[in-house]
Amino acid sequence: MSIKKEENKLEKIVGFAKSKGFVFPSSEIYGGFAGVYDYGHYGILLKNNIRDSWWKSMVQLREDVVGLDSGVFMHPTTWVASGHVGSFDDPQIDCRVCKNRMRADHILENFGVSADKMPIETINQELDKLREAKKLKCTNCGSSDITEAKRFSLMVKSNLGSPTEALSEDNVVYLRPETCGGIYLEYKNTMDSLHPKLPFCIAQVGKAFRNEIVTKQFIFRTREFEQMEMQYFLRPQEMKAKYEEWKKERWQWYLGLGIPGDKIKWYKHEKLAHYASEAYDIEYNFDALGGFKEVEGIHARGDWDLSQHSKFSGQDLSYYDDATKERFIPHIMETSVGLARLFLMFIDNAYIEEELTNSKGEKEIRTVLKLHKDLAPIKVAVFPLLKNKPELVGKAKEIYTNLRQHFMCEFDDNGNVGKRYRRQDEIGTPYCVTIDFDTLEDNAVTVRDRDTMKQDRVKIDELTEYLKNAIKS
Ligand code: GAP
Repeated sequence: MSIKKEENKLEKIVGFAKSKGFVFPSSEIYGGFAGVYDYGHYGILLKNNIRDSWWKSMVQLREDVVGLDSGVFMHPTTWVASGHVGSFDDPQIDCRVCKNRMRADHILENFGVSADKMPIETINQELDKLREAKKLKCTNCGSSDITEAKRFSLMVKSNLGSPTEALSEDNVVYLRPETCGGIYLEYKNTMDSLHPKLPFCIAQVGKAFRNEIVTKQFIFRTREFEQMEMQYFLRPQEMKAKYEEWKKERWQWYLGLGIPGDKIKWYKHEKLAHYASEAYDIEYNFDALGGFKEVEGIHARGDWDLSQHSKFSGQDLSYYDDATKERFIPHIMETSVGLARLFLMFIDNAYIEEELTNSKGEKEIRTVLKLHKDLAPIKVAVFPLLKNKPELVGKAKEIYTNLRQHFMCEFDDNGNVGKRYRRQDEIGTPYCVTIDFDTLEDNAVTVRDRDTMKQDRVKIDELTEYLKNAIKS
């Protein structure tokens, strides 16, 4: 068996995700709606499994982390205090010919110029250099007729709760651009209700919204997405050690779910926000996107967030340390990761086309999603060998009904067993159970492994335990 080198992997993944019921483009019957995607049956199962794995490692297995689910909408001053209103924007340029919208920083990056935190005037000077060298071209039509760069706010606005429809500075509310805003606002209630001692953390998973200028690359960058964030509240002197501890912790999470160590790397941000002392990203080498791209950020944010919210709300958000008898504003380090980016990463890593020789000696391609078993949308598929034999179908249904109490299962009696194996391989199901005529005699079934394609004969009485152990291993 050999693994085929895949070309056009992004196109393949987009087509695969749609045709197999993982990810659909939004609003297709109305001609589509850019920057938003919908998750079908297998997609939501995979997404939930990624989220659950994150939650287990970040909350369930830790004594210093509590959970939260805050609203998408918050008091609008939240985003003034955080600095998002007024400065959460990207530099936008437009093609005057085909109206293609582009991010000036991305264009400059293609020419080796980092525009991270660059003032708009300097961005325009850099663009002028490209213009003079006749290198500034529209990424869609190739025209050189490109506008100057201007700042484009990523904040998404709404009139929720307003008595008037028209949006103005007086009635605007924002859909949160990051979930951590809710964590800062609920820091006080969490302290007052649960009384955690520093250092401790609040974690949450939820939707965030950004009016992204460019939303290509499938679900990598969208306007509506989910973040999984944790904010660790600590004493300033604890920051260095905790930062290193969390870096290790997060790295291990990727390895534990089957991402090879050589497919991820650290990217250190050299230009930091004025309040930050350290910022690293975990980047994954996407075959589908042609290289390393950010999936997760780990940031040491100082006391900026709570100080700002304390200042703007007039509330005391300080912490009194019994041990040192000191009062201070806790410092924060965060880990922040996009659920859809992880989804794309896991599919990118797992989507494999293998060249096999079948029983007739012919070459054939097997598409298989070699997802970590914890993440597989369906854990076990159950087949009666033949569809038209009620005794086999009845036994298979009985086994399926029992296994469903323990695992996400699927029943399939369409086509021959070979075809059913291929269908389950494509959606990443680690185990297929076949009920055949021998089952009626020996009370045993055939269990076939997705990765090795080996088959085991297992007694029905022992099947649940067998599968539990196999899925854990
Ligand atoms: N609270 C910090 C924060 O939000 P960020 O670097 O802007 O930091 C963190 O975002 C993570 O959220 C990114 O590493 C990425 O995984 C995800 N993310 C950000 N913008 C996204 C978008 N438009 N679409 C999908 N995921 C996004």
